[in-house]
Amino acid sequence: MLIAFLLTFISLGVLSICYFRAAIETRDFKSGSSSQLAKQFRSFKSEQYHAQKPKKLVLNSTNTSTSSNYCGTLGWFSLQDYEYRKKASMIPLSNVSTIAYSHGPFGGFRNQYMTLTGIMLGMREKNFSQVIAPSIKWKDLFGTNQRLRHDLFFDVVHWNSFYPVLPRFVEYDKNLHPDVNIFGKYETPSLRWKVQNLSKAKQPYAFGDTGLQAQNQYKQYVKRVTEGKQERNSVDLKMMQGAFRPHPSLQRIIDGFIAKHGIEDGYLALHARVEPDMQKHNMCLDLKVKNFTDIITSLERKFAEPPFTTLLILFNRGILESEVNGKDNNVLAKHNLQEINNAVERGLWNGKVKVVEAGVELAKQSGHEVYSKYYSLSGSIIDFFLAVQSSIFIGTEVSSFSVDVEITRFFRGMKNNYHYLPDQIVLTTPDDSRNPPRFKC
Ligand SMILES: *[C@@H]1O[C@H](CO)[C@@H](O)[C@H](O)[C@H]1NC(C)=O
Ligand SMILES: *[C@@H]1O[C@H](CO)[C@@H](O)[C@H](O)[C@H]1NC(C)=O
Ligand SMILES: *[C@@H]1O[C@H](CO)[C@@H](O)[C@H](O)[C@H]1NC(C)=O
Ligand SMILES: *[C@@H]1O[C@H](CO)[C@@H](O)[C@H](O)[C@H]1NC(C)=O
Ligand SMILES: *[C@@H]1O[C@H](CO)[C@@H](O)[C@H](O)[C@H]1NC(C)=O
Ligand SMILES: *[C@@H]1O[C@H](CO)[C@@H](O)[C@H](O)[C@H]1NC(C)=O
Repeated sequence: MLIAFLLTFISLGVLSICYFRAAIETRDFKSGSSSQLAKQFRSFKSEQYHAQKPKKLVLNSTNTSTSSNYCGTLGWFSLQDYEYRKKASMIPLSNVSTIAYSHGPFGGFRNQYMTLTGIMLGMREKNFSQVIAPSIKWKDLFGTNQRLRHDLFFDVVHWNSFYPVLPRFVEYDKNLHPDVNIFGKYETPSLRWKVQNLSKAKQPYAFGDTGLQAQNQYKQYVKRVTEGKQERNSVDLKMMQGAFRPHPSLQRIIDGFIAKHGIEDGYLALHARVEPDMQKHNMCLDLKVKNFTDIITSLERKFAEPPFTTLLILFNRGILESEVNGKDNNVLAKHNLQEINNAVERGLWNGKVKVVEAGVELAKQSGHEVYSKYYSLSGSIIDFFLAVQSSIFIGTEVSSFSVDVEITRFFRGMKNNYHYLPDQIVLTTPDDSRNPPRFKC
């Protein structure tokens, strides 16, 4: 009897947290609204949003395409409600300026993030208010190599609640945007300008002269910031502090992973950058640790008693495995894969710490129609945000992925960040540090 009462009490507690979070989201959404949006929003009664009770907390479910209701990090979530709110949130305003971005994405996930930040900084500087969402695309590099629209992978409802600090992501509307045509498949749209001279395009404006401009401008901005010549821009800060986050359906896969492994109370994340391309390229040789055994030896020495009982290992298994199965007799790659497999099988710290993997494999296994298909991009996003959320992050100075995780965590006040160097592990963001590390390799 008492136990039943306690259980009811606990689950009500969880639910009310979910309801509370939903209310905050709803308020954010309202504050970013125009009268048009507000009208849409009113027709969608907020009671409806709160009245639907999740049948159960399905965080444990590994097949994330089956049920659309759940309660997780983002609160009580229903895919149907989200899609509705997304439609309303992405209605373009006709009285502010809009851009379309016609250049393709470059590089891996983190390079693409630099481009996105560069675009947003540039839009702020020139006072552009909206960007046509299907014109911002993410490449499923090393996977299908398709270019996918932004809002399939990232939460634009949440992002748009930061308007006008951040520009809004809006849908393409052929009446409001006569200077461009967006056509083709929903997931992989194409863009064609209808004006001869792009500098004459106004509805929408054409943003960026070349494909690398935004990324270069971002890099120059970071350099000025680190040299103390410029303050960090609020656009950059808001993005790192959470405005840029995975689509709730993708976050749900992340939450499901955390629940499945019972690591809600914390875990270590290790970015083992030991894939063959890193082994071969010649930058920053004195900072590199190429042998996985050496990383683990330093780690077990640094934390004599393991601070958490689970370690999430981030690396690209597919690339390492194909090197090992390839023609070159890459002894080091073989050794690293073998040692990683041993760690996953037997654990570390004499078996006291369980080793788990997420990334590409988790995306593939999710069963989600989008995320399992575009597993390479999804896998990078999953690993990035799992690393950002971890209790202790251990990465390397020679990887922009590692350094980006640390910078993001730094601006979220998460200072447990370490680098592995030859023979040691060092804290990179002590409590009194004024700046996060900067990628230089
Ligand atoms: C644009 O229109 C909306 C109402 O539709 C209004 O709330 C907003 O202030 C207007 N913005 C500008 C910059 O005029
Ligand atoms: C979570 O899923 C696993 C595997 O399907 C199952 O064994 C376990 O009982 C589930 N836990 C809960 C709390 O439902
Ligand atoms: C953008 O708006 C600000 C504030 O209204 C103004 O000071 C600035 O000159 C504008 N910049 C451009 C490029 O129009
Ligand atoms: C495009 O338009 C701009 C501004 O009107 C003009 O300066 C430029 O010469 C034009 N370029 C071409 C190739 O016609
Ligand atoms: C990796 O490091 C371990 C421990 O120092 C050593 O025994 C092993 O031979 C190294 N492997 C390679 C391929 O360098
Ligand atoms: C997940 O569920 C969907 C819909 O029921 C099904 O088509 C898919 O095969 C499942 N995926 C896995 C990995 O079980």
